[in-house]
Amino acid sequence: MSFADEPSSNGQALLEVNDLYTTFDSDRGKVQAVRGVSFNLQRGRTLGVVGESGSGKSVLSRSIMGLVPPNAHRTGSVRFEGKEILNASSNEMRSYWGDQMAMVFQDPMTALNPVLRIGAQITESLHEHIDLSKEQASGMALALLTSVGIPEPKARLRQYPHELSGGMRQRVMIAIAMACGPKLLFADEPTTALDVTVQAQILDLLRAQQAERNMAVILVTHDLGVVAGRADDIAVMYAGQVVEKASARSLFSAMRHPYTEALLQSIPKLEMPSHSRLQAIGGRPPDLVDPPAGCKFAPRCPYAQENCHAEEPPLIADPNDATHLYRCWYPVGTPAAVPAHETTVLEGPAEVDA
Ligand SMILES: Nc1ncnc2c1ncn2[C@@H]1O[C@H](COP(=O)(O)OP(=O)(O)O)[C@@H](O)[C@H]1O
Ligand SMILES: [Mg+2]
Repeated sequence: MSFADEPSSNGQALLEVNDLYTTFDSDRGKVQAVRGVSFNLQRGRTLGVVGESGSGKSVLSRSIMGLVPPNAHRTGSVRFEGKEILNASSNEMRSYWGDQMAMVFQDPMTALNPVLRIGAQITESLHEHIDLSKEQASGMALALLTSVGIPEPKARLRQYPHELSGGMRQRVMIAIAMACGPKLLFADEPTTALDVTVQAQILDLLRAQQAERNMAVILVTHDLGVVAGRADDIAVMYAGQVVEKASARSLFSAMRHPYTEALLQSIPKLEMPSHSRLQAIGGRPPDLVDPPAGCKFAPRCPYAQENCHAEEPPLIADPNDATHLYRCWYPVGTPAAVPAHETTVLEGPAEVDA
């Protein structure tokens, strides 16, 4: 199944992910980090991937890019411009990294080389992919820094990462990611380490770069608030699975999965007095080595019935909207939904400060 709203002129999505599984060998057994994920992404579009920490968002991104450690096993299919790349060698993938797909990480400090000047880091990635003279490369580095809104770009080229603020470092990372004009950008919690105003600036910058280049973006975040108004489509992940997938409009107006509902309730709202308490989701995500038999969210779900613990719900389409998919026996807001009952065990009530 796919998001295929408006296929490109030749009818082919930029990225097609089909039934992707990623499993890690570990001392405790097999960690099932990504389980049966499918989606299509068109050029220029944004897919938001949302879920709590540990839900498999980063492993999903890295599995698509082919950036997985040796203890990872992947099955399924990943097609980029129609070409299967899941089993491509690192050597083959190298021609995709930077050129075709790039990634911006949560913590730019670990992704940047601390002993290399900013200018050198940008020109290095340019030289790796494009045949440019030294002058051309430094000219392009300057243009890139300017385009990501870094003040005094000429002086910055000679600075080291530690001399820049977190927001400026993230701008540099975006400039590096943009260097070769990728068609697909993975932004993995790109603003989680930044304060709120800088967050908005960086997200706006990403959006501007995306529009200018008709780039597809996979925006990964634990915060539904970050993808609101920024993603065309949203996939909600829980315990390695997509539990709900829809256009952003449909997801926010008529969410079906109780986990999505809980995520939404944990977003701070502007009208809340400061220091008011946010509702966090009670309980913990399941053990990915030995996940529960039924719905993976059932142990934490206020609506769970007996069969939810025994039988895993399949990913089905909403009867009124074939593009809205969810994995739930008692979807929120439908006649099948039942009110929360007292016997449900919630390890809580967990609350966190806003
Ligand atoms: N190299 C690895 N070996 C074993 N388990 C891993 C490895 N990398 C990630 N995992 C596990 O995969 C699960 C998903 O991780 P991750 O994708 O990083 O979560 P998220 O990005 O949603 O916070 C986690 O339980 C994590 O511990
Ligand atoms: Mg992550």
